[in-house]
Amino acid sequence: MDFFAYKNGQLFAEDVAVADIAAQYQTPVYVYSRATLERHWHAFNDAIGEHPHLICYAVKANSNLGVLSTLAKIGSGFDIVSGGELARVIEAGGDASKVVFSGVGKKADEIRYALEQGIMCFNVESEPELHRINAVAESLGKKAPISLRINPDVDAKTHPYISTGLKANKFGIARERALQTYELAASLPYLNVVGMDCHIGSQLTEIGPFVDALERLLLLIDELAERGITIDHLDVGGGLGVTYNDEEPPHPKAYAAAMAEKMVGRENLKLILEPGRAIAANAGILVTEVEFIKEGEEKSFAIVDAAMNDLLRPALYSAWQNIIPVKQESTATARNYDVVGPVCETGDFIGKDRELAIEPTDLLAVRSAGAYGFAMASNYNSRCRPAEIMVDGDATIVVREREILKDLWKGEHKLT
Ligand code: LLP
Repeated sequence: MDFFAYKNGQLFAEDVAVADIAAQYQTPVYVYSRATLERHWHAFNDAIGEHPHLICYAVKANSNLGVLSTLAKIGSGFDIVSGGELARVIEAGGDASKVVFSGVGKKADEIRYALEQGIMCFNVESEPELHRINAVAESLGKKAPISLRINPDVDAKTHPYISTGLKANKFGIARERALQTYELAASLPYLNVVGMDCHIGSQLTEIGPFVDALERLLLLIDELAERGITIDHLDVGGGLGVTYNDEEPPHPKAYAAAMAEKMVGRENLKLILEPGRAIAANAGILVTEVEFIKEGEEKSFAIVDAAMNDLLRPALYSAWQNIIPVKQESTATARNYDVVGPVCETGDFIGKDRELAIEPTDLLAVRSAGAYGFAMASNYNSRCRPAEIMVDGDATIVVREREILKDLWKGEHKLT
């Protein structure tokens, strides 16, 4: 459930009319709801109950400081994939000791930075990475806490670009090599083996694959215990899907409870979850204005002021995101449109074949844009990236200013 709803025909974010935000801050503009972010985080956290656990929000979904500070304040941990994300977490007031560091290509300076900050764990994806972390830890005279990302080889049944738990993916360590890799890790003097992790994919709409993966990892944890290697935490990654259209993913409560249920009797094994999308996606919208209605030979186009550089998911994954009017009533007749942006590419669309009653200057809201929206935005076509606004009750807070032209060439140098 989220806090975007119509009141008297007008779309509201919590207690603020979205049209007022557009009038004040211009379009395109991302609008987030603080209450929704908090509600989603708590849904995960509460469902696990008494079992020791930590919800580590996946920063990549939306790394805005306003979002991170909101979650830090309610006690969230964070899943990061770069030194940059760690710096954001710290800047936002997050606790480094609640950070797990994922990703297949951690550089030595990122490892050093994370060790200096005292993160909870490195989620390691390969043997060479173990050696690199060991060497950096040695140079600092510290022991690095590590977990191995095991590839459980389960089919997440999601889009191939975001399915990560199969043997053919670049991620993780094959199950068959897990024991020997753990033994290697345990033998390296500057490593401290503390965990096991996995992440099987994103936008999953069934609980089954998650439970399969968890069970496979528990078996492995028991095998390790027989060999004298004790694991303190099990991190099952992120990946719970959301409703963009007609998907019916399990509720975070049901998902988290299913995970916790499998942990019964293992009170010494802390459970870590890394949800990104399920916390942020439906906590955000992208508001855009209709610039022109264009009649093509075969189609009608609604040309709007948001484009693929602002929201890449439709162009990149053919992802479907709901597009709704900010004002429900319209004098225009409902027609079928491709909603497209001003970028010079055929792939620049926000939605295809949408039934909308619109005319120029009308405002549209793209739903479920809080995750992998601004985070994947670029300056392609030298377009300034939009502002981001956090709504908190009846207050609006600019959590990122709209870029200005000078930002476009920041750090560039012309030749004389
Ligand atoms: N943990 C790890 C190790 C991950 O790789 C990811 C996402 C997550 C957690 C969070 O997954 P989530 O709960 O958000 O599904 N850009 C794509 C999604 C890529 C996800 C990559 N990894 C999209 O827009 O659909």
